[in-house]
Amino acid sequence: MNKIDLNMKIGDSVTIFPALSGIYMNYGVDFCCGGDRSIEEALKDSNIDRDIIISAIDKKLASLEEAGETTIKLNEQTNEQLIENIIHTHHAYLRRILPELGINLFKLIEVHGHNHPELFDVHHLVGLLRIDLEEHLIKEEKQLFPKIRINDVDEVRSLIRKLEDEHDSAGDVLKRLTVVTDHFKLPEDACTTYAITYKQLQQLQEDMYQHVHKENNVLFERFE
Ligand SMILES: [Fe+2]
Ligand SMILES: [Fe+2]
Repeated sequence: MNKIDLNMKIGDSVTIFPALSGIYMNYGVDFCCGGDRSIEEALKDSNIDRDIIISAIDKKLASLEEAGETTIKLNEQTNEQLIENIIHTHHAYLRRILPELGINLFKLIEVHGHNHPELFDVHHLVGLLRIDLEEHLIKEEKQLFPKIRINDVDEVRSLIRKLEDEHDSAGDVLKRLTVVTDHFKLPEDACTTYAITYKQLQQLQEDMYQHVHKENNVLFERFE
């Protein structure tokens, strides 16, 4: 029998067992924007055979059990702790990385754009993402989080609906980035800046998964 209940919401499975996020990311299973679906449903997204993924999940849970680390605990944090966690971990990261990526990609289209025209798409998509996410962060910090702090539930619910749509749009841009870079694969003639930039893009995607998960499936969920 499987260690994991496949009817559990996939977002909840990461809330309870954060270590599963690495497995979902490896196999291209969306647990943040699509966190409301059951695990069974979400596994249909991946090109990988569901039994392979389920066996990886079971193995991970068994190793956590052995190490006595089965529990944790985003859902035990207060709203204020979650907000602080989101701002200091994920928003701070985006504030730093988005401008840096813009500078690196501007260099890359100049030096490599001729041989690698897909870099123009990457440059463009990252530009869109930066505009969207910078505005999104400010809306969360200046509008949503203050309303959560005073527990203005109606206002929070209406803001959350818009902000979740923005998460979906950012998720779409990230998926398009994965496609145009062929999963961040470097060409043979890639220079150091190229390699650093692709690594940063991959990390950005991973960080966004965690970030949106904490918002959609943990913090926002409390108001639904
Ligand atoms: Fe956020
Ligand atoms: Fe957000």
